This record gives sequence, C-alpha cells and structure tokens, in this order.
Amino acid sequence: MRKKIVAGNWKMNKNFQDAEDLMFEIVDELTEKGAGETEVIVCTPAVYLEMSSDIAAENGFMVGAQNLSQWESGAYTGEISAAMLHSMGITHSIVGHSERRTYFGETDKIISAKVDLALKYSITPIYCCGEVLAERQAEKHFDVVRSQVSEALFHLGKEAITEVVIAYEPVWAIGTGVTASSAQAQEMHAFIRSLLTEKYGADVSAEISILYGGSCNAKNAAELFANPDVDGGLIGGASLIAADFVSIVNSFS
Ligand code: PGA
Repeated sequence: MRKKIVAGNWKMNKNFQDAEDLMFEIVDELTEKGAGETEVIVCTPAVYLEMSSDIAAENGFMVGAQNLSQWESGAYTGEISAAMLHSMGITHSIVGHSERRTYFGETDKIISAKVDLALKYSITPIYCCGEVLAERQAEKHFDVVRSQVSEALFHLGKEAITEVVIAYEPVWAIGTGVTASSAQAQEMHAFIRSLLTEKYGADVSAEISILYGGSCNAKNAAELFANPDVDGGLIGGASLIAADFVSIVNSFS
C-alpha cells in the first residue's frame, strides 16, 4: 500500500553502545515531535537488530535489515536469511543497495532472488535502483533504471509488487552531499511509476511507495517530499543524527 515512509540506513556504523544510544535518541525525538502519518523504519546493522527492534517495537516504529541472503538456508557461511529475519520479527529489508551492487557484485538476478525470499517471509523489500554519474551524463539514466526495475521486479504478480517499496537512489548523490534536484527526483519517480503503470496498470502503480535516497537531509527533505511521486526517503548519513532523522520524518507538507 502506498504510504509515506522515511527509512534510515545506518550502513556499517556505530558500536553497540552508540547504536543503542542512537535508538533511544530517536525515541526521544519521536516522542517530542511525533511522526504524523509517516511510517518510520530504521535499518540497523544485522548484529543490532534484536536490540533495535525491541526498542522500536515498544515505541511504535520499525526496524529493517540492510541486506538478506539470496539463498533460503544451508551452507552459506556468514549469510543471514529472510527466514531468520522473519523469525526475529523483522518486517523490512533494504535489497540491492548500490553499495551491495558495487562492492559485493550483486546483479539484478541475485537481487531478484532476494526480493522473492523477502516476500516469501513477509519482509517488505526496499528495492534500490539508480544510475551512476557517467550514465546520467550519457543520458542513459532512464534506460538504466528501466532495466534495473524490470529485471529485478517485473517477474512479480500484481499482488506481490504492491508489497515492494522502491527507492530511487542516484549513485552520484549517495554520501556525496550532492542531492538530485527536486525536479530530477520527481522526473525519475514519475518515470518509475509510469513503468509500473505500463506493466501492472494505474491502480497498482498508485499503490507503490517510491522513496528518494542520496544526500537527503533535514534541509532539503521538504522540497523533495513535496513532489507528487516522491513518497519519502531512504536516508544514510542524516539518519545517524536523531534530531535530523526525525526532522526528515516530519518533512511532509
Ligand atoms: P546518504 O545515503 O543519505 O548518506 O547519501 C543514502 C543511502 O545510501 O541509502
């Protein structure tokens, strides 16, 4: 179902104590400022999921994983399965983040298997797509995103696709301090929604949340979120500061 969502992506940051402190700071900020209608998800490192999901559950928000395995179970040393996350009460996972594509060789085929396993175990995949700078400069960004979205998601049926959240994250904007302009974000989000409409029909595409990610912060979130096809954000750096994160949560007009 289409919702306003702000998801934090802590990436590989914080020791246990600092992570727990940050969770409680988020609780304090949310208690003070509220979250309106916005669904709040914090994607913490896997080793902190138990601690963070306990705190989140008591305080009305959610915790997600940053990744899950493309395999269901078995001899895959070091991997964490969708079934394991589900058994810990985890309801969301980022899937196909550009850092996983770049540093861990994840292809759309692998990511598509992860999406399937997430859905099988009732975990909402937050599917990331987006072009690198050279692709945008070569005006290939629409082709790149079309291919990522169709290869990883378009085997899904109408019901399954509405369980997916899509995050458009132009790689050149991630962690760089360079944000896509509000117009660039809206243009790509509308394009992604048009792909969904073409494949599944307007009723289905209207139900899917499309988040923006890439140097989204407390200063620029309101302008980005004011766009009709931007349903929220996937927030990296700014999610490590509780006040900034909760200010982004409250950036919808
Ligand atoms: P950033 O990261 O907000 O630090 O740019 C976003 C992301 O990678 O999800």
